[in-house]
Formats: sequence, C-alpha cells, structure tokens
Amino acid sequence: MAIIIDGKVFSESLRKKIQKVTASLKDQQGIKPGLAAVLVGADPASEVYVRNKGRRADKAGFNSFQYKLPVTTTEDELLSLIGQLNQDSQVHGILVQLPLPDHIAESKVINAIHPEKDVDGFHYENVGRLVTGEEGYVPCTPLGCLMLLKHHLGNLSGLNAVVVGRSNIVGKPMAALLLKESCTVTIAHSRTRNLADVCRRADILVAAVGRPEMIPGEWIKPGATIIDVGINRVYDAQGNKRLVGDVDFESALKVAGAITPVPGGVGPMTIACLLHNTYVAACRLNDVPVARIE
Ligand code: GUN
Repeated sequence: MAIIIDGKVFSESLRKKIQKVTASLKDQQGIKPGLAAVLVGADPASEVYVRNKGRRADKAGFNSFQYKLPVTTTEDELLSLIGQLNQDSQVHGILVQLPLPDHIAESKVINAIHPEKDVDGFHYENVGRLVTGEEGYVPCTPLGCLMLLKHHLGNLSGLNAVVVGRSNIVGKPMAALLLKESCTVTIAHSRTRNLADVCRRADILVAAVGRPEMIPGEWIKPGATIIDVGINRVYDAQGNKRLVGDVDFESALKVAGAITPVPGGVGPMTIACLLHNTYVAACRLNDVPVARIE
C-alpha cells in the first residue's frame, strides 16, 4: 500500500508559516502584501477558485483586491486595468484567472503584467528565468508539486521523471523544475506512443492531462511516487458528483510507493504557493530580504 501524500496538511503548515512572516513584514517594515485577482466572465469553477484565493489571502494577512469583470469586457479594458495594477504600490501580485474569453488574447494580457508582479509565473520573462535557472516566479501548481515531491523524497537527482501533459500552466514548467532538480525528464502527451511503457519507467510520475482516471495502476512502476494534478468532476451511477484525478487512485494505491489523493493532494498547494509568491513579491518590490519559509 502506498503512502498517501497529504497536501492539505502540508499546505496548512505552509500557509501558517507565510502568515507568520507576513506579520513580521508588517510589524517591522509596515508592508502588507497585496494580491489582485482578476476574473473575466462567470465560469463557475473559476469563480470558486478566485473567491478561495481571496479568502486565503485575507487569512494570511494580505490585502486582497478582487476584480470581477463581465464577459463583454474588451481586451483594451482589461489591459488598462492591468496597467493600473502595475502602477499600484499596494498591489504586489497580479493574477488573471485563466481561461479568458475567446475575444481576449491570453498571451497579450499575461505579458502586460509587470514581471515582478507576475505571481503566476506565466510572463515570458519568468518562463525564461525558470528555464535558464535564474530567480523569478514559478507557476503555483508545479511549485506545489515540487514541494510535495521534495518533502517526500528529499533529493530527486538522477530519478526518472515522467510528466504526462504539456500545458503552459503545469506540464512544461513542471518538466523545467524537475530538470533543475537533475531528474531525467520525459514529457508525454496525447500523441505519445506506448504511453503505458513510458509511464512504467517513471520513478516520479506527474499526471496533468485533465482526463478522469486515465492512468491505471498497471502503468505504474512498483514503488513510484505519483503526483496527480487532475481535478475532474464525474458522476457515479446514482448521479452523485465526485472529484477524481487523472490517475485511477484505487489501483495505483496498490502499486505506487506514494501518491497524492484527489481532492486533498495538489489542489490546496496551488493557493498556498500563490501566497508564497505574493509574499516574496512584496519583499522584492520593497528591497526587503525574503524570510526563508521552508
Ligand atoms: N487556471 C487554472 N490554473 C490557473 C492558475 O494557476 N492561475 C491562473 N491565473 N489561472 C489558472
């Protein structure tokens, strides 16, 4: 039986540490980290995510600014808001919830965010910094996955890591982070041939495809560490809604060495890492040393 990696417990402890260093930042420097979250349209899942990000920011002692814009918002209007937030000294982190409506060019909006306020780590400058190994902002979900992996495995050097999924938000930055940790990294995706064989070589398997229970236990190397990024809503025979990951948890549990559950694995780490990045941004923008959190 695999060990279950508890992201809920880990993220709570991380949020507590952030709350503590945030209180000192306020006491000693008079700086309160500020996070601006922008949502365009009324996608129900995005509304929940943005609301939770705001709540968690408040609880950590941050200023939280939420902008809920109608789906009819133009690209120029959104860019103008980003411009204002870039100038606002109370705002240290800017997050534009994705996906955006089709009439708005995502890359134009993301790259309009000041790179030092880009706490999602999606700006070209931060992508470049991650790939070249320079200090910048790392996307929150892969950062959370890496924290769980290092907490469980310690040194990752030399391990075979397979990332299933090649999105800009998770797959690609995850692969870059694992490479930085000296893993031998494979990125697999929907066109990969013999995906089962590729997965079976993984000491670390990160599943980020968004397809419910796509990876069965038979594809897993005995003892491997499994990070399941998927959050898929499915309905059982009785019509009850349930959240499942990209990995078939029951069968994987029998083979893996350790695995993150859904819910309660990677999910809660994302917001904790967003708070982490925003705290760091507040320090860096004010030329204040960043307290070590881990
Ligand atoms: N949509 C799905 N994941 C994310 C994320 O990490 N950040 C933003 N801004 N949008 C998302």
